[in-house]
Amino acid sequence: MAGIGPGNPDYVLPAAARAIREAAVLVGSRRALTDFARRDQATFPITGDIESVLRFIREQRQSCEVVVMVSGDPGYYSLLDALRREFPASAIQVIPGISSVQFAFARLSLPWHDARLLSMHGRRPPDDALRYAPGTMLGLLTDTEYSSQTIPALLMKLGWPESAAVSICARLSYEDETIVSTTLKDAAAVKEETHCIMVVRG
Ligand SMILES: C[S@@+](CC[C@H](N)C(=O)[O-])C[C@H]1O[C@@H](n2cnc3c(N)ncnc32)[C@H](O)[C@@H]1O
Repeated sequence: MAGIGPGNPDYVLPAAARAIREAAVLVGSRRALTDFARRDQATFPITGDIESVLRFIREQRQSCEVVVMVSGDPGYYSLLDALRREFPASAIQVIPGISSVQFAFARLSLPWHDARLLSMHGRRPPDDALRYAPGTMLGLLTDTEYSSQTIPALLMKLGWPESAAVSICARLSYEDETIVSTTLKDAAAVKEETHCIMVVRG
């Protein structure tokens, strides 16, 4: 498994780039395959149907090594979970990548050792994990349901002040990257971002 970081090839580790280059078979999101696969490499897209991805890997690995490309880091809310349920650890080599969360904190020049990192991508953390306490800093993965429009309203219900600072970091590392810093209250007036990183500071 190779983490490809937030997306721009400039942020892929050389070890991951080498594994991807030398792979006979590449599995990855459609965007990753477009960006990284060559015509002479067999490919399989990662879609919502994880079972079919696992079936493909199971079949292919009998004859060759398969490189699975995932965004960010493979171990952070990614496909490593599913692969570990399917294959023993000894059958998997993980090449880390820069997580989109890590990248967002770097873009904001913010230390992240005290941040509470949570995923709202396809899940909702318990309210207690999201609740406000002075000094709390959140780093959130988001999706279409929990987006830059819906998360601020939810946080304000959980005690966060309207004036809390929020940075909405979208398409990180790509040419069309945007980072909007505003307040929870004013986030409603900003263009909605779905698959982004939100950093919230109380
Ligand atoms: C399934 S999670 C994968 C997280 C990934 N393993 C990581 O370490 O970044 C997908 C979510 O990651 C975030 N994400 C991934 N790439 C991003 C990017 N380039 N810019 C902003 N957010 C990104 C979004 O919140 C997206 O919904």
